[in-house]
This record gives sequence, structure tokens and C-alpha cells, in this order.
Amino acid sequence: MHVLGIESSCDETGVALVDARPEGVPLLLAQALHSQIDLHQAYGGVVPELASLDHIRRVLPLLQQVMDETRLSLDRVDLVAYTRGPGLAGALLVGAGTACALAAGLGKPVVGIHHLEGHLLSPFLSEDPPQFPFIALLVSGGHTQLMQVDAVGCYRLLGETIDDAAGEAFDKSAKLLGLPYPGGPHLSRLAEGGNAQAFKLPRPLLHSGNLDFSFAGLKTAVLTQVQRLGDQLPIHLADLAASTQAAIVDVLLAKSMAAVEKTGLKRLVVAGGVGANALLRQRLNAECERRSVRVHYPQLHFCTNNGAMIALAAGMRLQAGLATPQAHYSFDVKPRWDLADLCS
Ligand code: KG4
Repeated sequence: MHVLGIESSCDETGVALVDARPEGVPLLLAQALHSQIDLHQAYGGVVPELASLDHIRRVLPLLQQVMDETRLSLDRVDLVAYTRGPGLAGALLVGAGTACALAAGLGKPVVGIHHLEGHLLSPFLSEDPPQFPFIALLVSGGHTQLMQVDAVGCYRLLGETIDDAAGEAFDKSAKLLGLPYPGGPHLSRLAEGGNAQAFKLPRPLLHSGNLDFSFAGLKTAVLTQVQRLGDQLPIHLADLAASTQAAIVDVLLAKSMAAVEKTGLKRLVVAGGVGANALLRQRLNAECERRSVRVHYPQLHFCTNNGAMIALAAGMRLQAGLATPQAHYSFDVKPRWDLADLCS
């Protein structure tokens, strides 16, 4: 079954065609992605109106690129999937409108997918997919959650951030250090040359006894250090970056391991943009090996937003008998949408 996926929830337009085979690992046939980083960089963050306009400009050329690469004609698409939420309302509407118009034109069904479900199922696109049940650490620009995943569509929230997401902590701290948007990868690169012990930064909620996170206080602590250092900031920049990264990673690691202990599960899936962080991977790998826990990551290019994870999630939901593809083409989007709401 050929599933076309369209992702437009934030600042990447992603289109992909996936062959969701009844048996075995789903096969990615082609994908195309446009990142709006350059567009938003001047503003230090995503400008929702600009994001929507850019999605409109990009989505059809990206679709053409995917179809050209697969050498398949559009009538070979069996199902069109789009990100229904959560995300920016205007940006989501572009993907939803395009998907529904396309499906209507082709006379094919259409299905709206939860963006985070796409992220947490994305390791199934790898050659070594996880087995259910597993714990998922979802760490993106807007979300930080620990979920217990028992099956496709069966997600139980174990803990989440009560304020900023881990990606936001990276991005906001990076901004305070004068780094470009989105700051996560820049901060992480800068941290490579720094001493992570140089600054004592808080590890919020580390000993809270639950699986919730809080990162807003860390950003304030970074701000305090930046103000204290004043003119001296440039010579301490790498140390402050390394200390910030270590604080975020320490908390993500400790809470993930607490989730392992609490559930007794021996598999961990890490998904979302922050899952690309090298230190996080290194620390999780070491700790999981020590505890005989298997840890799975999506391939690096599937960590950030993409159309493949949306097509994949649609295919997997369909196979599990959970998706209800529509053959009518009115649509809505859900800018706020709890993943746990999907549980049947
Ligand atoms: O999942 P994603 O692409 O978009 C959302 O749906 O939010 O995640 C983007 C987030 C940004 O906050 C970005 O700074 C962060 O992922 N990120 C990283 C790294 N690569 C991306 N954070 C730390 N280290 C990285 N290498």
C-alpha cells in the first residue's frame, strides 16, 4: 500500500511516499523536505504567518519531487496522510487542505495523523525496529514526554514537562549565548570544546519522585550566568554551553531510567529533534547497556519533522485497524491535541 505523508505542523514542509507492507518493515520510497530555518532566523524563532505562507509555496514542488523520484504516477497513491495536529493552526491547515484536495482529486481516502505519534513510531522505518511494548522519550522543540507504548495507538503518559520543552531549553539557552536559531545543534557543537563542570546549573525536578520535567528554571540560571559574566562571556561561552547541555541531558537520562525502573520495560525509543543530540545518545547508550535495556533511535534525518513518519504512522494505524480513512474531504486541524487521547 502506497501512503503519501504530508507534514506541515511547524517550520518544515515534508512530503514522503512509504510502502506500508502488510508484513515486514515499511519501506520509504522517497521523501523531500524543506526547512524554513533561514526564513525564521532573523526573528530568532518561528513566525507563524511566514511559516504558513512558505508551506503553501513548498508543498506542491516537494510532492512533485517525491513522485518524480519514485517514477510512480499519483494514481498509485492508495492513501493520503497529513499532520492534523498538534502544531501551528495556519501551518497545519496548509498540509490538511493540500492532502484533502489531492485525495479528493484522486478519489482516494485521507487520514489525519497526530504529529507525536509520527515521531514515536519513526524508529519503525529503521532496519532494526523496536518491539512493543516500549518506553518512548519524546523530545522535540515543543514537547518533552515519557510515554509507555503498548501497541500502535495505545499510549500512556508517564510524565511530561510542566513548562518548557527540552528543545526549548536548548533553543532559549542558545539564544542567550548569542547563537543562531534553532539553537540546539549550535549549542551542542559549541559544547564539544567546553568543560561541562565549569558552571553549576540546576537539574530541575531531578529528585521529584515522578517522571515530570521542568526546564524554565534552567534557562533563568543560564541568563543569570550570562549577566554575571558580562564582557567575559565570549571566553566562557563553550564552558557555559557544555554545562547547559549536561544539565538538560542529566535530567533526560535520569527520568528515562526512572521510567525504565517504574515500568520494568527493557526497551526505550528516543524520538524528536533533541534525539539527534550526540551527548544524549552517548549517555543513554552507556546507561542502557549497563541495565540491559535496548535503546532505539530513528535515523538522524527522521529525528526532526518529516513526511515519512506521517505516512508510516498512517500505514501502521491502518494495519492495526485503528485509522478511519475518510472518503469525504472536509477537514479540521487540532493545534492542541493530547497523544493519550488516541488510546482506544
Ligand atoms: O522534532 P523537531 O524537529 O521539531 C518539533 O516538532 O519541535 O525538534 C526541533 C528541536 C529544536 O528545539 C532543536 O533545537 C532541537 O530539536 N535539536 C537539537 C539538536 N538537533 C535538533 N537539540 C540538541 N541537540 C541537537 N543536536
